[in-house]
Amino acid sequence: MKISFADLKLPVRGIIVLAVGLNNKLSENGERVNKQVDGALSRAVYTSKFSGKSGEYLAVIGPSSRKNATYVLIGTGDQGEFGELEAQVFGATITKAIQSLDKTEATVIVDFSIEKSGVSNDVACQVGYGALLRSYSYNKYITGAAENKKPSKELKSLTLMVANPTTSRRRFRRFSSIADGVNFSRDLVSEPSNVKSPKWMSRQCRKLSKLGVKVEVLGESQMRKLSMNALLGVGQGSVRESQCVVMSWNGGKSKDKPLALVGKGVTFDTGGISIKPAGGMEDMIWDMGGAGTVIGTMYSLAARKANANVVGVVGLVENMPDGNAQRPGDIVKSMSGQTIEVINTDAEGRLVLADMLWYTQKRFKPRAMIDLATLTGAVMVALGREYAGIYSNKNELAEQIINAGNLVGEKLWHLPLDQAYDKQINSPRADMKNVGPRWGGSITAAQFLQRFTNGLDWAHLDIAGVAWSDTDKSLMEKGATGFGVRALDRFVSDNYE
Ligand code: BES
Ligand code: MN
Ligand code: ZN
Repeated sequence: MKISFADLKLPVRGIIVLAVGLNNKLSENGERVNKQVDGALSRAVYTSKFSGKSGEYLAVIGPSSRKNATYVLIGTGDQGEFGELEAQVFGATITKAIQSLDKTEATVIVDFSIEKSGVSNDVACQVGYGALLRSYSYNKYITGAAENKKPSKELKSLTLMVANPTTSRRRFRRFSSIADGVNFSRDLVSEPSNVKSPKWMSRQCRKLSKLGVKVEVLGESQMRKLSMNALLGVGQGSVRESQCVVMSWNGGKSKDKPLALVGKGVTFDTGGISIKPAGGMEDMIWDMGGAGTVIGTMYSLAARKANANVVGVVGLVENMPDGNAQRPGDIVKSMSGQTIEVINTDAEGRLVLADMLWYTQKRFKPRAMIDLATLTGAVMVALGREYAGIYSNKNELAEQIINAGNLVGEKLWHLPLDQAYDKQINSPRADMKNVGPRWGGSITAAQFLQRFTNGLDWAHLDIAGVAWSDTDKSLMEKGATGFGVRALDRFVSDNYE
């Protein structure tokens, strides 16, 4: 979708979007338009349920004097409470409303401001950003052949009429870059796993080089030389070659240590020999969601030319059960030298991350390391589909990430690490086992990862509950969410730039 900015004037044709406050309060321009149409807007509002709440919309056909115009009223909710997120939801509601009318372009009169103190005043950018995020839908495999599933018309162009279009246009570039990163990540996560092999993923990563990201791909022979046996063990039951991709964005000073982002990229998780039940197994196409977020974040940072050094490392494997697959009871020696008894081949994400974390801290000596993974069903039992779980060996780091998440509407809940949980993954046969007792499964998974951080400042985000949504959200259509791209981008700009 194309977002453009133009001078404020009252249009007389096309789809014209107006903001309406609580209790149907029209803005000054809204009142002017209402007069031009002989009170049609206030009459339409009077005879409908529309009341100006956030997320509400109402289309009003122009009277004969304005027969080429359709007015779309969008609720803002309480404008006294209006902040960045509210402005984004307002923009997202525009997309939803215009698409429901099956129209492809509209003009928005943006004549209200963000009133919450301390937030950016450029409401038009936030509106455009929300509209962009909500306009994403994954239609790659919808041909239109099925009667019941015709692709809906896409919103192609939105013109935002504002007081200072030049300033808004310049400031908007940053937001469109972030939205591009979010949407790139959503494309990756949505791709079906017959196409999405580890090599397909590494080819997608290579696309980032055109943005100035340095991309290196390690195949199985290189990983074997580096003794990444924990990762390789997971991939050995698949005919598809495992990959590790390292993406470096050097937008900061050359002497500054980088921030490292590490992602679980299981392109399909059958569970391996500890095979999963059939029901719902198709969800495991998005078991590379952590890697998807890391790649999308690298995309955003490079596209907006962030002034920071950030390295993204993803471990890409397919977890399959064939004649060569890893067995329960196998013991593998990870790159760190620590040995792991594989009790359950379905606890594979932590095996992949063990080598990725070790490699990352050893090679880059980063200032901090943040990993993301659709790691456990247990985190979904604890937090459902709204909050991601966050663990850290440094409270300050966790707080910075949680704050960044709150500012962009990606909610994170701090869960505990503790020696008492750590000892639950001790094994009599090896240095550790890959699963603990039934209870606290997301915590023992995090404890497992901590053993591969070598004491570096580290945070782990278990995003199993939030990487995919089964229902539409205010800013996102259902499907892949790109969870974490916006939070990490914000974390970088608030703490590393
Ligand atoms: N990829 C799954 C976790 C998952 C479940 C992600 C549902 C998204 C939705 C992970 O590899 C897994 O299988 N975890 C097991 C661990 C268990 C065997 C200790 C789980 O959570 O059941
Ligand atoms: Mn698994
Ligand atoms: Zn998995």
